[in-house]
Amino acid sequence: MNSKIQKILKKKNKSKIICLTSYSKNIAEEADKFADIILVGDSLGSVLYNYNSTRKVTLTNMIDHSKSVRLGVKKSLMVVDMPYNTYTSKSLALKNAKKIIKETKCDAVKLEGGKKIINQIKFLIKHQIPVMGHLGLLPQTNKGKFKSKGGNIKETKQLINDSLLLQDNGVFSIILECIKTSTAKLITEKLKIPTIGIGSSVYCDGQVLVTDDLIGLNNTKIKFVKKFINLKKFINLGFKKFTLEVKSKKYPSKKHSY
Ligand code: KIV
Repeated sequence: MNSKIQKILKKKNKSKIICLTSYSKNIAEEADKFADIILVGDSLGSVLYNYNSTRKVTLTNMIDHSKSVRLGVKKSLMVVDMPYNTYTSKSLALKNAKKIIKETKCDAVKLEGGKKIINQIKFLIKHQIPVMGHLGLLPQTNKGKFKSKGGNIKETKQLINDSLLLQDNGVFSIILECIKTSTAKLITEKLKIPTIGIGSSVYCDGQVLVTDDLIGLNNTKIKFVKKFINLKKFINLGFKKFTLEVKSKKYPSKKHSY
């Protein structure tokens, strides 16, 4: 097994796992200093391309951004989202996962869903492709509607069954998105593999947020998003200084001229 995956598995019940998203080299380089896992998420569709759903994201989109991310990732485990409609059958999933891994040199792929896609997940793992699971709110299926999951017995039972099924078939970790606190806690306690929460309470083994949300570049009003810094302010300051110096002919000075 990949040594980076082994390291992540060992963190269960010991220390929190940090997962950050990235769509490009420069952000990946900074994220790599803090993260255990760097995820090239298909959230890039809404964050970078203004798509109203991640369904429009293509395999080419994911591969191009992942190639850039790869240049910035040295130590973290790099996971790439398989986009919508690229894993509708076992053979298609394998063909596309192999293409992602070959072209981006990532360590693992992530697929959204439980029982419905278990045959594809089993098939990838049988062919030595490490898989991360994703349960709860599934943006590729939910079309971006942010409604929490696991708030009633039926949903809770299904989430527990799906997470055990994913674990028993070899996924190394599961993203739990927008799952009620008590349900996320129960799942995390039942599993031997780590859970990574996004809007699913402090009880998960790790946490992920979309980087553009946490650094304040993306204006989103989702309940679980916390803006840890307002990077827009710093960017504006840089642009303002540049504009003032160009207009006043202070820049470029002799020092910056040939
Ligand atoms: O696409 C993405 O960025 C994700 C994370 C939000 C978990 O799947």
